[in-house]
Amino acid sequence: MMRKINGRITGVGSFLPSHRVTNADMEKLVDTSDEWIRSRTGILERRRCAADERNSDMAVAASWRAMEMANLRPEEIELLVVGTVTPDYRLPSTACVVQKKMGLVNAATMDIAAACAGFIHGLSIADSYIRSGQYRRILVIGTEKLTSVTNYRDRNTCVLFGDGAGAAVVESTEEDRGILSTFLRSDGRMAELLWIPDGGSNTPPQTFENGDGNFCIEMTGSEVFRHAVRQMGDASLQVLKMAGLEPSDVTWLLPHQANIRIMESTAKRIGIPSERVFMNIAKYGNTSSASVPIALDEVVREGKVEAGDILLMTAFGGGLTWASAAVKW
Ligand code: UT7
Repeated sequence: MMRKINGRITGVGSFLPSHRVTNADMEKLVDTSDEWIRSRTGILERRRCAADERNSDMAVAASWRAMEMANLRPEEIELLVVGTVTPDYRLPSTACVVQKKMGLVNAATMDIAAACAGFIHGLSIADSYIRSGQYRRILVIGTEKLTSVTNYRDRNTCVLFGDGAGAAVVESTEEDRGILSTFLRSDGRMAELLWIPDGGSNTPPQTFENGDGNFCIEMTGSEVFRHAVRQMGDASLQVLKMAGLEPSDVTWLLPHQANIRIMESTAKRIGIPSERVFMNIAKYGNTSSASVPIALDEVVREGKVEAGDILLMTAFGGGLTWASAAVKW
């Protein structure tokens, strides 16, 4: 009889740059107020990288913490998946940069450009490779230097975003635990609701003589809000169904930290009470692909997760993309 194997998260880690940007700092940049930002988003402050702090540096710092918890050496990692839309370079991938910095000499590497859903895409890829038998030890990272693509003259977006990284080690297990189910989806027809219009091969930087290209995030917030609640809610119900679970079985919902109102509405749609929704958006704002693994690291390190607990992760972002994962700790 075939042995049943799947992925299990054996280590988590995160890293946030030390520099804090408060709502009062935002009031000096654009026509906004602490009251508007708090009540409309739940954000009190966000983090910003120092000028010489790279996206890959945050990814590496988060990963060492996850590797230490999993008790693995760099040469034991067989695959590295990095979710990011703010790579250090167009080429090479951020995964290759991280590989070099950490000495992951036996790993295959890939970047995933699924925006805020990037980390859960990485978890799903890791779990699938493990189930196929091809790899046994995989490092998954969600990392973003969003301040590098934020327009600090656009109040609709600049108050939302921050920098940070989170990581998880996923190993094969034959135990009755780990990643139970994952669900990934996208709809490219709505790409322009949340995108960076210029800087790709259509309109590379040299296209613009007067610096008039838009290399920053543009978002139609209210439309994205509507889709986010529906898709994260439905994807979450889908992974629960795939795992044979009910919303009442969930110990913690770990939603993408984009907006406190989106998280509350999503939890309601799934049928999860607010006290079981983990939120840290007040401290970090929206860190795109890093937000779910940072939340995962914090809920674990705060001692709020016990063996056998059910974690439901869900995220939604540019693409549009969305994803959910159900995990038995
Ligand atoms: O991470 C990827 C997924 N991203 C998301 O999920 C983000 C989804 N969207 C949102 O979180 C919300 O739509 C926002 C927080 C971005 C905006 O909140 P909203 O309640 O949808 O506001 P709105 O865009 O409908 O704008 C309402 C008003 C507008 O003014 P008028 O036209 O009514 O006079 C905006 O200009 O609020 C104004 N506004 C602001 N006012 C003060 C927008 N941004 C600001 C601001 N400060 N920073």
